[in-house]
Amino acid sequence: MKNVKIPALVILLSLLNAFLCSLASIIWQYFVNHQIDLASVLILFFLFFIVSFFIFYFIYNPFIFDKINLVRKELTQILPQNEIPDTKFQLEEIDPISQLKLEAKKIAAERQKEIEHLKNLDSYRKEYLGNVSHELKTPVFNIQGYVSTLIDGGINDPTINVDYLKRADKSVERIIHIIDDLETITQLETGSLELEFEKFDIVTITKDIFEQLDIQAGKKKIALKFSKKSDKPLLVFADKFRIRQVLVNLITNSIKYGKEGGKTEVNFSLYNDEVITEITDNGIGITEVHLPRVFERFYRVDKGRSREQGGTGLGLAIVKHIIEAHQKTISVKSNSEEGTTFTFTLNRV
Ligand SMILES: Nc1ncnc2c1ncn2[C@@H]1O[C@H](COP(=O)(O)OP(=O)(O)O)[C@@H](O)[C@H]1O
Ligand SMILES: [Mg+2]
Repeated sequence: MKNVKIPALVILLSLLNAFLCSLASIIWQYFVNHQIDLASVLILFFLFFIVSFFIFYFIYNPFIFDKINLVRKELTQILPQNEIPDTKFQLEEIDPISQLKLEAKKIAAERQKEIEHLKNLDSYRKEYLGNVSHELKTPVFNIQGYVSTLIDGGINDPTINVDYLKRADKSVERIIHIIDDLETITQLETGSLELEFEKFDIVTITKDIFEQLDIQAGKKKIALKFSKKSDKPLLVFADKFRIRQVLVNLITNSIKYGKEGGKTEVNFSLYNDEVITEITDNGIGITEVHLPRVFERFYRVDKGRSREQGGTGLGLAIVKHIIEAHQKTISVKSNSEEGTTFTFTLNRV
């Protein structure tokens, strides 16, 4: 009975019924009247056919629909409302069973996709927790070491007491930095962070950031500058605080992963309704294998070097989230040993 079209079946059964009744009538006429009236046989045939057709059509079909509705009821209990397949079939519907089978297959495929997604999320969560505890372990153990030494008598040793307290304080600062980054990324990922759009001059805030990072850059003799003499204000429409965070992250990276005596250039250009910002350094660069992954949480090319520089591996993940929350994009180009360019867009005013 697989894939039998219902009207076809109804027609077939009606024809069979009409044929058997007509045959019975022929036999009856033959034995009783010894002659056959073909006209009456034909009329009987059509009459039986029509009556059978209606009987089958209106009894057989609802019998199928009732079953389908039962299945539908079951489905409504496990599916969100908008995913319920429409099984309110009209009588003209040719093949409701195959239709329902198709819908069920679709639902099963959807469920499978969801299960895969949840599995991915689960392994992501496990990896995330592992990363967080790993990041926090080092500074916590450091603090424990310093405090234990102080308790064990170091507190009275003027050669180490202040030094160890300062070191413990630095580790606390590191923990706060990690927690701050984690908090930002969680806010960005759960969507609880609302952007506050305003008009502001991106050139001025970049100059501010240059001043703010001047000492850090100076330690490595890295020059921070605009690629063209760009004194003219350039108004963008974005969340000022968050874009400042993006620029600080990218420029700090260019210093942290820059070479002694190198330079970081910021360039602005206009394209249609957008301002394109490029941050280019001539630092250590990122090799091709690592490039597609640098925006992932906790991903670092050289973990030791990053930690040494106070990095958490969350900076670029935060940057990407912020730009994407603005419905814009960020990309990176890099050549090992030559340098790196990060490019992102924003709406101009
Ligand atoms: N300008 C750059 N030059 C070279 N490598 C970079 C640059 N910016 C980022 N990276 C690489 O990408 C990794 C991820 O960056 P980020 O998310 O900011 O983390 P981190 O806290 O380590 O700075 C860094 O650890 C570094 O290896
Ligand atoms: Mg960084």
